[in-house]
Amino acid sequence: MQNLEFKNKHILSTGDLSRRELLVILDTAERMEGCVKEQGICPLLDRSLIAMLFLEPSTRTRLSFEAAALRLGARTISVSEAGSSSVAKGETLADTIRVVAGYADCIVLRQPRQGQAAAAAGLIRIPLINAGDGAGQHPTQALLDLYTIRRELGTLDSLKVALVGDLKYGRTVHSLFYALLPFGPQFIFCAPRELEMPGHIMEHAAENRLPVSRTEQLEDALGADVIYMTRIQKERFTDQAEYERLKDSYVLSRALIERVNKDILIMHPLPRVNEISGDVDGLARAAYFRQAHNGMYVRMALLALVLGADIP
Ligand code: NCD
Repeated sequence: MQNLEFKNKHILSTGDLSRRELLVILDTAERMEGCVKEQGICPLLDRSLIAMLFLEPSTRTRLSFEAAALRLGARTISVSEAGSSSVAKGETLADTIRVVAGYADCIVLRQPRQGQAAAAAGLIRIPLINAGDGAGQHPTQALLDLYTIRRELGTLDSLKVALVGDLKYGRTVHSLFYALLPFGPQFIFCAPRELEMPGHIMEHAAENRLPVSRTEQLEDALGADVIYMTRIQKERFTDQAEYERLKDSYVLSRALIERVNKDILIMHPLPRVNEISGDVDGLARAAYFRQAHNGMYVRMALLALVLGADIP
């Protein structure tokens, strides 16, 4: 089946996607997972070339996009650090994007300046997938988060989700907030006062009378169905002393989970620094490594959809 509604579309923000579109992506990802598990590959894009432009550090996102492209039979060209591209010579991102758009059928872009993913997409006629836009959005992460929640809990509807840690600079929680909205969530925002959610999210929540509670105490966050821990985003701080003061604000331990809510689903986009202690990894509800694994199927789905593949 060819699903042409996504063909040539940019994937920039989860706020742009309707409930139905989100579910089409998740259902397509399930097909991809089935196909890979049965056959190892799913060669729907064997005539496509995908450019991976990663101008900020990345392990999971870059490798899972590369793995996704290869399992779809596509070829890839890539830049894996800003220092190895002409951006280091002073070339603007706009020029780089225009040039790369002439080589490839789709661009996957990660870069450090919020707003530049949308600006870059506006310059080209091939689809651009935002793989991290500074402290802005990271929509493909949120999609794999939804996929994981649905897989682990059987539903996305009416869940209580606690977002914990660096809510100011953490782009994954911004995207996850918007991705969950069509499913009627309740939120707990747990952050130090200095790292609360940005104004646009708080305003959106207030205007739409969303059930949001705010806390600085990790224990309060454990009242949710899902706890989504995040790393304090060192690279976004202008004042490193402030980072040092805040970096260990929250550490989720096995003892705390077992005492307060042993049924809570534990997620993290990774990399973790210190936010989840190692003894949590053995809990059945610790989903973060499965979550990272799911990223490949979700990214396969996105590449196949924006490139107009004929999906079995
Ligand atoms: C996240 C990111 O890059 O925003 N990582 C990821 O893509 N899984 C989270 C982070 O870096 O803290």
